[in-house]
Amino acid sequence: MSKLFSNFKIKDLDIKNRVVMAPMCMYSAEADGKAKEWHYIHYAARAIGGTGLIIQEATAVEKRGRISDRDLGIWEDSQKEGLKKIVDECKKYGAVMGIQLAHAGRKCEVKSEEIIAPSSLAFSEESNTPKEMSIEDIKVAVKAFKDGAIRAKEIGYDIIEIHGAHGYLINQFLSPLTNKRKDEYGGSLENRARFLKEVTAAVREVWPKEKAIILRVSAEDFIEEGNHPEDLAEIINMVKDEGIDIVNVSSGGVALAQISVYPGYQIRYAEIIKEKTGLPVIAGGLITSPLMAEEILQNGRADMVFLARELLRNPNWPLYAAHELKDDIEWPEQYLRGKIR
Ligand SMILES: Cc1cc2nc3c(=O)[nH]c(=O)nc-3n(C[C@H](O)[C@H](O)[C@H](O)COP(=O)(O)O)c2cc1C
Repeated sequence: MSKLFSNFKIKDLDIKNRVVMAPMCMYSAEADGKAKEWHYIHYAARAIGGTGLIIQEATAVEKRGRISDRDLGIWEDSQKEGLKKIVDECKKYGAVMGIQLAHAGRKCEVKSEEIIAPSSLAFSEESNTPKEMSIEDIKVAVKAFKDGAIRAKEIGYDIIEIHGAHGYLINQFLSPLTNKRKDEYGGSLENRARFLKEVTAAVREVWPKEKAIILRVSAEDFIEEGNHPEDLAEIINMVKDEGIDIVNVSSGGVALAQISVYPGYQIRYAEIIKEKTGLPVIAGGLITSPLMAEEILQNGRADMVFLARELLRNPNWPLYAAHELKDDIEWPEQYLRGKIR
């Protein structure tokens, strides 16, 4: 049996394999943030294709925390019904369902919204300049994550991923490139980690103890003065006791930077975070081959692997991957005549 198709146990969850569908914005909702037919079909297809853990795309906890006006949202109760349909569909086919709770901060591109960030610095020349968040804004954002977690629990998600990566609000607090605050939320690593710590504590307060929480981080800012994997490991060590169970390791997005990307370029960051925090990690980036995924797991470099674009190209990737790794996994009954033997 390959490692990729061995189960992964975390808290109350027994995930049937170690293939994680990374969160991917579909920009297919309308301004009300509600899930639609596209979402039910898109996610259910990956569940049918054998993905063990599906992490639903960045789902905004505040209206002004959307990237675009086509993002999914979880900022009000009326959004629960559509989201529940995604969860119910995916669970029918044996996937474990996660939701990425997100706030865009200065990366909000919705014209009608007030844009907020830890400091009043625009992402690029084309971007709007955000308002520096007041302490009240910080409290509102923390509460929005908490309310999102309450709704996620009511809907029936199995796992929450807190979006701390790719230059969105939490990442904007964590990075010295975007956080120039002079108060207790800026300056030292400990101060920059404070917002994340408060968000994690607020989510954990309402998210059942037996259920896991993932934190997604950008482990490398790709700018000398920015954060590097060792800084992220230190930050995670400061907040993990608030309730982080797994770290999903990504990189970049906080500032415009030159990045050299190649298959596996983020795996080293995941290894560093795993080693320095002692937490299980999800690693990935440009994974297309089952053998590459298997190597990462067999060598203990990560505990699970994520795939994003490859799962857009091929929703049945896990079914193919199992065959290539010589594992005889269960195929959906309806597809048995197509099973590779
Ligand atoms: C269409 C698309 C949408 C994405 N949206 C999100 C998102 O909502 N949240 C997130 O953390 N990452 C997002 N990402 C990044 C992916 O999760 C992943 O980290 C990245 O694509 C690298 O993995 P890959 O090489 O397997 O595609 C997105 C990527 C793509 C291609």
